[in-house]
Amino acid sequence: MTVLVTGGAGYIGSHMVHELRDHDRAVVVLDNLSTGFRDAIPDDVPFVNGDIGDRDLVSDIITRFNVTSIIHFAGSIVVPESVTDPLGYYLNNTVKSRTLMAVAVDMGVKNFIFSSTAAVYGMSEANPVFEDAPLQPISPYGTSKMMTELMLRDTSVAHDLQYVVLRYFNVAGADPKGRCGQSSPNATHLIKVANQVALGQREKLSIFGKDYPTEDGTCLRDYIHVTDLVKAHKLALDYLAAGGESQIMNCGYGKGYSVHEVVSMVRAVSDVSFVAEMAERRQGDPAALVAGAQKIKDILNWSPELADLETIVRHAFEWEKYLNDRK
Ligand code: UD1
Repeated sequence: MTVLVTGGAGYIGSHMVHELRDHDRAVVVLDNLSTGFRDAIPDDVPFVNGDIGDRDLVSDIITRFNVTSIIHFAGSIVVPESVTDPLGYYLNNTVKSRTLMAVAVDMGVKNFIFSSTAAVYGMSEANPVFEDAPLQPISPYGTSKMMTELMLRDTSVAHDLQYVVLRYFNVAGADPKGRCGQSSPNATHLIKVANQVALGQREKLSIFGKDYPTEDGTCLRDYIHVTDLVKAHKLALDYLAAGGESQIMNCGYGKGYSVHEVVSMVRAVSDVSFVAEMAERRQGDPAALVAGAQKIKDILNWSPELADLETIVRHAFEWEKYLNDRK
């Protein structure tokens, strides 16, 4: 009854490993450490350094550890990079997910949880955006995730495999107990970058676009605490284990914050009044993306505990300080 966590040494995956361990669940991590860190997870968690596209390796792990569920985080996540390297993104996020799914079917693993993204909605006209909105991704990243969603849908019809797809909005923050956080030095996420600027690790913050049709002209996003997000995965796991049918659910709070609001919060939390310069719009940014957040509450009984921008920024800042002091 072990849970296989792919990408378990990465930002979200490592939080998941801690969440499962906090609930005394047996876990095995598969990660190729291309962007993850071995020390993001406890020493006593079984760890395999390898690739989800390696069929024999995945089969062997499933047998050896008696894997009955898979939570699949491994993948590439930088939207602009996906535009310059689409085939790399389709390989990592789509082709290798297909391999993982095929092994799951062959080996009789019945429960599959997949990290998808709000990027599948593209430039959503409706906000909040609900799960039945049209899928119109505008980046290879979003398309690569959408294609995996579609493969899961068809596979679950043909085989005895149930899935939960979680479409993440803007994941941020760090473990409140300080055990893990976002550690990639080159991450492009707004809260991470702003914290690095506050700590003097980056020279400046650029705000991409000031003429969006929003109240203050900057983009609105629905920032969700990583700890609330992994709790949703744990509930999804229990839901599938109890025989729940396949579901696709947004994972956000249903409240948007502008880039200006986020930057002000980082200044307040860090107590550093760093400069943010206005810059051109970044290609592919929707003006607003806010989750229709009711379905996951209804189905999984998910009740977020850290739905507060200040808490998210504070935990992210504390983690960034820890990384800084560790240098
Ligand atoms: C995107 C994806 C999301 C993915 C995430 C991780 C979409 C719609 N969403 O989120 O699925 O999980 O990337 O890579 O594609 N910003 C600045 N200055 C900065 C950085 C960001 O102004 O230095 C702004 C952006 O223009 C955006 C907001 O802050 O409006 C959030 O950006 P970011 O943190 O990069 O996430 P998304 O692009 O929203």
